[in-house]
Order: sequence, then C-alpha cells, then structure tokens
Amino acid sequence: MAGAIEIFLPFTLMCTAIWACEDGQVDHLTARQSLDEQLQANSYPANPWVFPYYYNIQPRLPFAGYADAARIPFYRKSPGYFAKIDVNDGYRQEDRLGFGNLGANLFSSLFTLPTRPFRPFANLVGRMDACTCTSSSGDAGICTSALACSLLSRKPSGSCNLGRVCCVDVLATCGGTVTLNNTYWQSPSTPVSAPSTCALTVRLDSTLAEQALPICQIRLDFVSFTTAQPTAGTCTDTFQVSGATTVAPTICGNNDGQHMYLDVPSSASTPTDVRLTFNFAAGMTTRSWKIKIALLPCGTTYLAPTDCLQYFSAASGRVKSFNWQDVAGTATRQLNNQDYNICFRTELVSSQRATQMCLSICAVSNGGDAFSITTPTSTDAAAATAAVVTATTNLAKAQTTLTNAQATLATAQTTLADAQTALTNAQNNIAPTQAALTAAQDALATAQDAVPVAETALTDAQGALTTAETDLATAQGTLTDARTALNKAYIDLAAAMAAIPPDYAAIDVARAALTTAQTAIIDALAVVDGAQTVANTAQTNVNNAQTTLTNKQTAVTDAQTAVDTAQLAAVNAQTAVTDAQTAVDTAQTNVNNAPAAVTDAQTAVTTAQAALTAAQTAAANAVASAAALSGVGTSAIVNGVNTATCLYDFLLISSAQDSTNVEADRYCGNALNPATTPIATSVPVCTPIKPFRMTFQTDNTEEAVAAGANILPAPADTANTGFCLDYQEK
Ligand SMILES: *[C@@H]1O[C@H](CO)[C@@H](O)[C@H](O)[C@H]1NC(C)=O
Repeated sequence: MAGAIEIFLPFTLMCTAIWACEDGQVDHLTARQSLDEQLQANSYPANPWVFPYYYNIQPRLPFAGYADAARIPFYRKSPGYFAKIDVNDGYRQEDRLGFGNLGANLFSSLFTLPTRPFRPFANLVGRMDACTCTSSSGDAGICTSALACSLLSRKPSGSCNLGRVCCVDVLATCGGTVTLNNTYWQSPSTPVSAPSTCALTVRLDSTLAEQALPICQIRLDFVSFTTAQPTAGTCTDTFQVSGATTVAPTICGNNDGQHMYLDVPSSASTPTDVRLTFNFAAGMTTRSWKIKIALLPCGTTYLAPTDCLQYFSAASGRVKSFNWQDVAGTATRQLNNQDYNICFRTELVSSQRATQMCLSICAVSNGGDAFSITTPTSTDAAAATAAVVTATTNLAKAQTTLTNAQATLATAQTTLADAQTALTNAQNNIAPTQAALTAAQDALATAQDAVPVAETALTDAQGALTTAETDLATAQGTLTDARTALNKAYIDLAAAMAAIPPDYAAIDVARAALTTAQTAIIDALAVVDGAQTVANTAQTNVNNAQTTLTNKQTAVTDAQTAVDTAQLAAVNAQTAVTDAQTAVDTAQTNVNNAPAAVTDAQTAVTTAQAALTAAQTAAANAVASAAALSGVGTSAIVNGVNTATCLYDFLLISSAQDSTNVEADRYCGNALNPATTPIATSVPVCTPIKPFRMTFQTDNTEEAVAAGANILPAPADTANTGFCLDYQEK
C-alpha cells in the first residue's frame, strides 16, 4: 500500500483536483466493489450472461465490472482512494499518471527508442487521459499547455488550473484518422453535398505513442446526429460501423443523445481500424453530426459487457430506439434491420442489489408515440397462421398426390402401348412359325419316303450276295474236283515212270503211257486254271455284293436318322406355333386390361387435381384470414406450443410481467401504451431476470410479409416510431 500513496501524491500535485481527473471512475469503482461483494455473498453466478435465457447472446468471461477475483474485500480500496493501482491488476493506467517528472522521462525515453517515431508531445500523452476537463462549450477535453494543445492540432476551449487550457480535439473533415481519446468528429462547416460518403477511421494500435494502454472498446456518443429520415423504415442516408466485432445496426434520422459501445480485439494484440461511415443519398436535407469517440482501455470496470451495443450504468434512465423522437405525425421512424442488445448494469438501490428492472413509456409533450413497433398478429392470427402452416402442408401433399397419380397414368399408358406392340409382334410371329412347321412336316414326309426305297435296295443287295455266294461255292467245288483229278494224273505219271521197263519195246509202250499221262496232266492243269479263274470271279462278286449290302444298310440307317431329325423339327415347329399363339393370347389380354388401368389413373389424376385446387383455395383462405387479423398480442398457446406473435419486429424483455402478472418476452404493436390519445396510457412491465437486458429486433421491411415455406404472413404496417422507455431498477 505504500506504493499507492507514493503514486497518489505526485498525481494530486499535477492535476490539483480529483474531480478533474477520472472522478467518475472513482465513484464507479467504489460502487462496483460493494456490488461485487454482494454478488459473492449472495452466491450469484459469477457470469450471469450465460443464463440459458439469453439464447441468442454470446457469453463473455469475465463479465466486466462484475465479481472478479482481483477485487475481493481484502483488496478493497478505501473511499476516495484513487482508482486502481494494484500492480497485480496488470493495468498500467494510473502508472502513467503517477510518476510525475520521472514518469514523463520514462515515457519519453520509450517513445524515442529507435523503433518509436519521435513525437513532440510524447511526454504529454501520459497525462492526457487523466486530466479531463469540460470546455466552455461543454465538450470533453484534456488540460495541457496552450503550446501542447496547438502541437496536437486541437482546439483550446476554456482554462484549467496552473495556467493550462482545456484542449479539445475536434475533427470536421471526411477521410480522417483518429488515434487520440475523446476526439469529436463533427460535420464539415459547409453543407454536405449528396450523394456522397464521409468516413472516419479510428486507429487502435498500442504501439502508437498516444495509445500506451491497450484498447478493447470504443464508445460513440452521438452528441448530435441528423440525417435524412428512413423510407418505410429503410435508411437512405446511412451511418455504418465496420471493423468492430460488435455488429452495429445501420442507423439514420435523429439520434441526438444516443450512444454505441463497440467491441474490438485488444489493440495490444490486434491493431484494428474501425471505420465510421456516412453514406448520403441524393436529395436535399439537413445533415449534421457531432460524435464523441472514447477509447476504453481493456479490463476497466466501465466497459460494457460483450455484445451490448448500448449500456446503461445508472439505476434509472431513459432508453430509446435509434431515430425515436417526440414528434407528432405518421412518418415511420422505426428502423429496419435492427438487432442489438441494450444492457443495464445491476445497481445498488437503497444499498441493496436491484432485484428487478421496470420499464414504462416516457412522457411525451409533442405528440410522439412512445411505444409503436410493428403491430403483431393477435392470438386469433396466431391460430390463423397455424392454419396457414396446415393448409400449406396439405397443399404440398395434394401436389405430391397429383404428381404420383400423373406418374401412375404415364406408367399405365406406357404399359398399354407396350402391350399393343407386343400383340402386333406376336401376331406377326404366327405366320413364320406356321411356315416353318409346314416345311418341317414336308421334310419328314420326304425322309419317310426314302426309307422303303433304301430298304428295297438293301433286299436286292442281299439277293445279289446270296447268288454270288452260290456261284462261288460251285466254282470252288469245280476247282476241288480239278485239283483232285490233277493229283491223280500226277500219281498216274509217277506210276508210269516207275513202270518203265528196261527194253525198248517196253520203253516205247511206257513212253506212250507217259505221253498220255503228261497230256492228262496238261489237260488237268488247264481245267484247274479255268476253275480257279471262275472261283476268283465268284469271290470278287461276293465281295462286291457285300460292299453293296453294307452301303444299302448305311443308306437305310441314314434314311431313318433323317426321319427322326425331321420328326424333332416338326415337333419343335409345332411348339413354336403353340407358343406364338399363347403370346398372342397373353398380349391380347394385356391389351384388353391396360385401358382400365389408364382410366383408373386418369380418374386418380382428376381427383388429385381437384384436391390440389381445394388445397390451394384452403391455403389462400388461410393466408387471407391470417393477414386480415391483427391486434395486440404477446404470446399464445397454439397447438400446445407457446407461439410468440411479435414475429418480425419486437422488443425482447425477458420474463417481463405487467401489473396483472401477465408474462411475456416480446413486446410489439402498442403493447406498452395501448392508447395514445387523448393521453398516452402506460403499461409498465418489470423483469426479474438479471443481468437486465433488452434486445431490439426488426426485420427488413415494413411492408406485408407474404406467406411462404416456413414463413408466416404478416400485414403491412406503417407509422411505427420505435420505443422510448424510462427504466428504473428496484
Ligand atoms: C478515454 O476517455 C474516457 C473518458 O471519456 C476514459 O474513461 C478512458 O479511460 C480514456 N481512455 C484512455 C485510453 O485513457
């Protein structure tokens, strides 16, 4: 704690009065610490933003400004203690303020290191964030010497202590870049020409000399903001933010006093350019603005929770939709395409942590409508829209039925055509098969005729064989006889030679006998030769007759085979004829049956078409009755489902209840001020859900929404103003 006092003393010397230096933060911190202790004592969740209730909101850890280990009672700072200087925090915000001359030297040496460009005001910037002042014109500034103020190209306005001036940073150009905290961007002094664009870049980079503290959030304060009014809710002049992680809605019209918080990644790790862009459509109208741009250091207690475009840190106040104004008239001021969260810090009310937040319409004096968001569909309309869903489903079913019936008809027609083709083919097939049968039958007859002819030839050949064999036997007998006679002649010859006597007379006799015997042999030899020739001829005849017989037998066999083949062919041909006839009969049956199927399918198509027409009529009627119904409604049970009827444009206040304990989440139409004349009535609602928060959402049109697949119809609505609500934490 000794270090804290050391730092505190030189700081008071430098700025002389705490109220001039971060005074708001002192108060915040004190209040915050009490709150954190309450939170811990009552075991509230450390991160209430993860309540499932906020289904559409990304939670963030830690929740800035809530329970935080670094600020348990042990570390509690005494009242009046200046901001937080605990080195364990890792926040060096006040380090820069507290070192006095020593600190200034430290910083200037930092800035004059080779990697850092020389900045003439480098040793001043450490003090800028601390000694804020309010200029004579009411703008936030910093206390510097007049010289430093001119070096910064800022505007001196009013004075501070020690002879210094209240130095205000105002930029009145298009295309500039802002790096200094609390710069004002205002419209150029000459009227804005249109169409045109006017943009400003906010550069966040902790390597910049004037941004030693890492920046995590930007707060835009629209001190004044006037552009063209929207057309049917759509901005023609637009103000847009890009480069921030927060998705800011496009706005236009009158936004004096409004603000936006924009999250950015820490400028220490991710330098970021955030661009603010006005696009002016053609046309003459007043366009002027003055926007204060505050760069908020990471980890500070006064950061808005993530995804809170607007953040209120007082126990009561006023919250308005962009472009809401207390003006009479029927112009549409509600802006299209809004989708953002409005968050409220939970405050201590009478030393107790607030338990609920109540909202009521703000008082108007110029005839403005304090709560007018696109008129919702009523409970009846919710039922009617459910009927649209049913009718649309039925319509789809009828269309499917028709399509199926048409497909069935097409199939039946194809079947008929195919059957007719098959019949023709079968009929054409009859004649060829019958011709084939006739040919087969003719071939059979021919083959059968050939069999007896071959058999006769066989019989003849057998006769010829028998004759030749008889002749052969005869010739062989003759030959045998001749040979026998020859042998006898030889024997006689031998006997004659043996009988030759030794005298001549006897020799002569013997010679005569010998000659006779020789002659007999010669004759017998001749007979044998003749008989042999006859026998040979007979043998040849027998052989030939046998060959002929074999041939004839083969011919008979062939003829019989031919008969068998022809008979098979005839049977097959007969079967083919029978089959062809059967095919004709079948095809004919199919041809007879198919038209009935076609007729049935045609009837089905006609029925389906009638059903479709009926379903179309039913759907059209359902859409018409849904579109015709309107009224004030919040939510209703439809088919057992709790259906929010503020379907397209609404303010979401979680679990809010009115004085009669009617609970709803979504508010639209004139739900919170059902009567605007003669005096506005207010239906205050309160929500116990913490952290306190609302979500404003509008769609992209004020025109009617046509029914479609999964789209419920809605009537056109105009003259919506948005909302102006006073909130009060209790
Ligand atoms: C910028 O000024 C705001 C007050 O408008 C202050 O809360 C914040 O800490 C300042 N930012 C830096 C980086 O000092």
